[in-house]
Amino acid sequence: MDTSFEQDRLVRSKQQTDGPHLVHRLRRLRRTPGLRALVQETRLTTDDLMLPLFVADGSEESEPVESMPGVFRESVDITVKRARSATEVGIRAVILFGIPDSKDAIGSGSHDPEGSVQRAATALKEELPDLVVVADTCMCEYTDHGHCGLLDDRMDVDNDATLEALAKIAVSQAASGVDLVAPSGMIDGQVGVIRKALDEAGHEQVGILSYSAKYASAFYGPFRDAAQGAPSFGDRRGQQMDPSNGSEAVREAAQDLAEGADLIMVKPALAYLDIVRRLRKKFEGVPLVAYNVSGEYAMIKAAAQMGWLAERSVVLEALTSMKRAGADIIITYHAMDVARWIHKAS
Ligand code: PBG
Repeated sequence: MDTSFEQDRLVRSKQQTDGPHLVHRLRRLRRTPGLRALVQETRLTTDDLMLPLFVADGSEESEPVESMPGVFRESVDITVKRARSATEVGIRAVILFGIPDSKDAIGSGSHDPEGSVQRAATALKEELPDLVVVADTCMCEYTDHGHCGLLDDRMDVDNDATLEALAKIAVSQAASGVDLVAPSGMIDGQVGVIRKALDEAGHEQVGILSYSAKYASAFYGPFRDAAQGAPSFGDRRGQQMDPSNGSEAVREAAQDLAEGADLIMVKPALAYLDIVRRLRKKFEGVPLVAYNVSGEYAMIKAAAQMGWLAERSVVLEALTSMKRAGADIIITYHAMDVARWIHKAS
């Protein structure tokens, strides 16, 4: 006799004092892979993934980022090849970060129509018209001081002067063909100013993915290595959010939506899944993005290389938890691997 079915009728709790009560047998639906698949609540698909790409100047350049195994800084020609192989495993979206050869105090390279991000966007749209192309809209990779904006005489980021610069960057990215611009500097008012500038320049169809709740996180360490964009003095705590704060993320997102953001983001992801959940509940129906940042990637890669974690299972578990928390889209450096794994499994 199959005792699991027998016991199933009534299971008495050992600690009960005041009469029997029914314990549901939740394990019943965990018994076989078929049953587990049938009741699976969260499914990760390649449609959920956005792959970050670091675009450098020059040609035929592909330079590995030391602290992010499997991630490269690549010139436009190689970026197109990389994106093509991403589409072949089912990835539908990329986000571009520029790695310019030269920087200056006002980040002039950021809105150069011949900049690497602008050239990459045009090339990608030409070669892979169905690919969603997003550009990070910020100054930190282009300024020699590494801050996300123009500095005032106290060496602080000048909010309103930076807004004008961001509008110029967004318009240049839109002109190069991106589908979405993604302001990441946490400058107050950036979404509204960018929306207005895009509309005035005839780019009404270009959307805004706002890095709404971006925390002042030490998990960005490897990215700053990749993008050579660490601030040369000070830090970003004057713009980015204090990791202790949760309610403030709701205010940030509400403000961005009021200014015209089409999608909102929480960044980093893993240590901030409560924020993902909060924004999901508060802003039902708004596409919500989680950015699985460089430090989260590096931690898993390093442990996997040491043989201390099973990479594939850990990555799928981490990314599934982001969707379970409420994210619709995940920006992740694991995207290519995940797409291959999902591809194989199906
Ligand atoms: C700023 C920007 C950063 C990241 C994305 N956009 C770095 C920062 O704020 O210092 C971090 C992404 C990551 O760590 O993967 N343009």
